[in-house]
Amino acid sequence: MIALAQMAENVLRTADGREKTALSHKYAAEWRAARAAGEAPEIGTSNPPLRPARPDKPELLSPRDVPHRKPGSPEGRIALLHAVAHIELNAVDLHWDIIARFTDVKMPMGFYDDWVSAADDESKHFNLMCDCLEALGSHYGALPAHAGMWRAAEDTVDDFMGRLAVVPMVLEARGLDVTPNMIQVFKSAKATQAVDALEVIYAEEVAHVAYGSKWFHFLCGRHELDPKEAFHDLVRTYFHGVLKPPFNEEKRAEAGIPPDFYWPLTESV
Ligand SMILES: [Fe+2]
Ligand SMILES: [Fe+2]
Repeated sequence: MIALAQMAENVLRTADGREKTALSHKYAAEWRAARAAGEAPEIGTSNPPLRPARPDKPELLSPRDVPHRKPGSPEGRIALLHAVAHIELNAVDLHWDIIARFTDVKMPMGFYDDWVSAADDESKHFNLMCDCLEALGSHYGALPAHAGMWRAAEDTVDDFMGRLAVVPMVLEARGLDVTPNMIQVFKSAKATQAVDALEVIYAEEVAHVAYGSKWFHFLCGRHELDPKEAFHDLVRTYFHGVLKPPFNEEKRAEAGIPPDFYWPLTESV
């Protein structure tokens, strides 16, 4: 079995979405099997690209230029699923990137267990969205998608705690806020395949946010930092703009993010 950081780099350097996620799933299975056998596999080091390899399609546009479609229409629902597929593919890369990028910081094995498991979930989420799109006669790449999804990764390329603050604890937490409404859109349209897929995603994303919170707190403890203060400082440094309510306070609480972490960030200072 190759070192985990090398696995991560290989996923990042695979362009096609279905291939990337198949490789991600294969490596996660190898990791889990080794861990179940009581091994402590090598983390190693690697040379991750600044930006992950991506397919030629979708065309990436600035958010302003991505056409907005009404969610009430079939085209609007396809656009929504396409946007989620794009987010999930980015999430696959974000999870492997954190593994590959910060090997200089010594972390307990449990950290890697969590990130590999979440990367595997994201791979499944991407495929679920692709399956839904294909069942509707579309596919990932058929529509333009947001450029700039990778910005948070580039902004925090040198700051492990900044990465944890911005990616799982802000961006993935935002997913918890918006997914219930999205599920409602597909319920109203009686689109059961999409409802089932989004419910899987919604349930599993709570754990991803919780992993972020857990390891962020761990690192604050290691450096004797106040977690709330550190979180506010890092989000203000690396995240562009303010956080937008309404928040899913219940799911955020379940994921270990208390209200005094995010409410103060709804206002710029
Ligand atoms: Fe996901
Ligand atoms: Fe996630």
